[in-house]
Amino acid sequence: MKINFLKTDLPAKGNLVTFAYNDCRLSSFARKVDKEMGGQLSRALGAARFKGKFGEFLAVPAPAGLEVRNVYVMGLGNADDLNDLKMQQAGGKIIARLMSCGEEEISVAAEALKKADMSAEEVAANVAFGARLRRYRFDKYRTKEPEDKKPTVILFNVLCSAPSRAETVFGPLDKVADGVLFARDLVTEPGNVIYPESYVEHIRELSDLGVDVEVLGEDEMEELGMGALLGVGQGSASESHLVIMRWNGLDKKKAPLAFIGKGVTFDTGGISLKPGAGMEDMKFDMGGSAAVVGLMKALAGRKAKANVIGVVGLVENMPSGTAQRPGDVVTSMSGQTIEVINTDAEGRLVLCDALWYTQDRFKPKFMIDLATLTGAMMVALGQEYAGIFSNDDKISEQLFKAGEEVGEAVWRMPIGPAYDELINSDIADMKNMGNKYAGSITAAQFLQRFVNDVPWVHIDIAGTAWKQTPSDLADKGATGYGVRLLDRFIQENYED
Ligand code: BES
Ligand code: MN
Ligand code: ZN
Repeated sequence: MKINFLKTDLPAKGNLVTFAYNDCRLSSFARKVDKEMGGQLSRALGAARFKGKFGEFLAVPAPAGLEVRNVYVMGLGNADDLNDLKMQQAGGKIIARLMSCGEEEISVAAEALKKADMSAEEVAANVAFGARLRRYRFDKYRTKEPEDKKPTVILFNVLCSAPSRAETVFGPLDKVADGVLFARDLVTEPGNVIYPESYVEHIRELSDLGVDVEVLGEDEMEELGMGALLGVGQGSASESHLVIMRWNGLDKKKAPLAFIGKGVTFDTGGISLKPGAGMEDMKFDMGGSAAVVGLMKALAGRKAKANVIGVVGLVENMPSGTAQRPGDVVTSMSGQTIEVINTDAEGRLVLCDALWYTQDRFKPKFMIDLATLTGAMMVALGQEYAGIFSNDDKISEQLFKAGEEVGEAVWRMPIGPAYDELINSDIADMKNMGNKYAGSITAAQFLQRFVNDVPWVHIDIAGTAWKQTPSDLADKGATGYGVRLLDRFIQENYED
């Protein structure tokens, strides 16, 4: 789907979308359209008892006096409640509704929102951004989709008074969308396509954008003493990798921000094998790493003025004759030893070496890790919020705010010494799981033992990386959660 910004002329083709507010108050463009239609639009709205609630739709086919096939009115609700996120959601609702409308072209008329302090160009850019995010589908492996199910819209026009200014506002948003969609692609690809070795090749594509990509294999990690990460991958036929991405938007001497992702390309549980039912979902267990890769793509794409490191640990957790056993003791890069009680608590084993390596080598300003780490996270917060665990109040608050703004919400969870005690081991420095309670917190306590007092946030995205139902900005499936959150967080707090 191509997105165009055009002047506010009445389109001659396809379908036209206009807006109305609560109590059926028409936008000024909708009033103009109504006039052209000799009042047919307002009569139709009255007949349909259209209220103008956010997301409410009315279609008027074959509008009198116009060349387009259908005129749609979409409700925006209360004008006081609108902001950039709402306008993105409006764009998402429009494309969700009209993607397969039979027309190739749709045009949406954007207008300034005085209450929200948004110009028509900002409205237009945000509508387009939302449409692009919601339009995403992963069609690669469908070869027999019936014609009438296929999307028809190939041109999404947004009309506004200064299209070239809208284009400028849209530029960076478009790059963020590139990052989100890349993350969704990576998460959606099955485990036989994305495994550690093939994943590396996808990440290498980022070098075209100026991201420095460095890849460590098993020999190098052995040398560094990353026994925890290597233990997880040792049952797999695919070689484990650690990939380091670097984006320097500032003087290289400035301490970088670091983002670390869990990249378990498939999690069978290992010898502590998961039950068969639903195991296919575990292709998404690299969602944390995909968010980091997508973030790097977004930042480099929009040439963010920040120094940022992305580190992802790529492994496949398989049961086999070479797999690690429950009870094995491994030595992490930090020197701390770990008793592996359960081979299915593997994410923390991957992250602990990645975190230690990152702080040791890069001396970052802070570290933020993302991981589909625990099923318990979904028990606690469902799919609405990701849990954050942190030793730093300020960064936690900055993340909370960014999350509210972009609609990728986070909720802070407690950590502390009483939880930390639960992962002490009888024969090693720690074990990789606690008791049956507070599973997400004991996982976070485990990670904290490897951050060396660097300001740190752990984001458990087990509930938010994949959704069974569509939202305004994503079809069902991979959400790309984390890319927009962290992009906004960086933009608001750490860019010059
Ligand atoms: N990748 C899973 C976490 C997960 C499970 C995410 C289900 C989403 C849905 C992780 O590696 C895992 O298996 N965690 C275990 C830890 C336990 C063995 C301490 C879990 O949550 O059951
Ligand atoms: Mn697991
Ligand atoms: Zn896992």
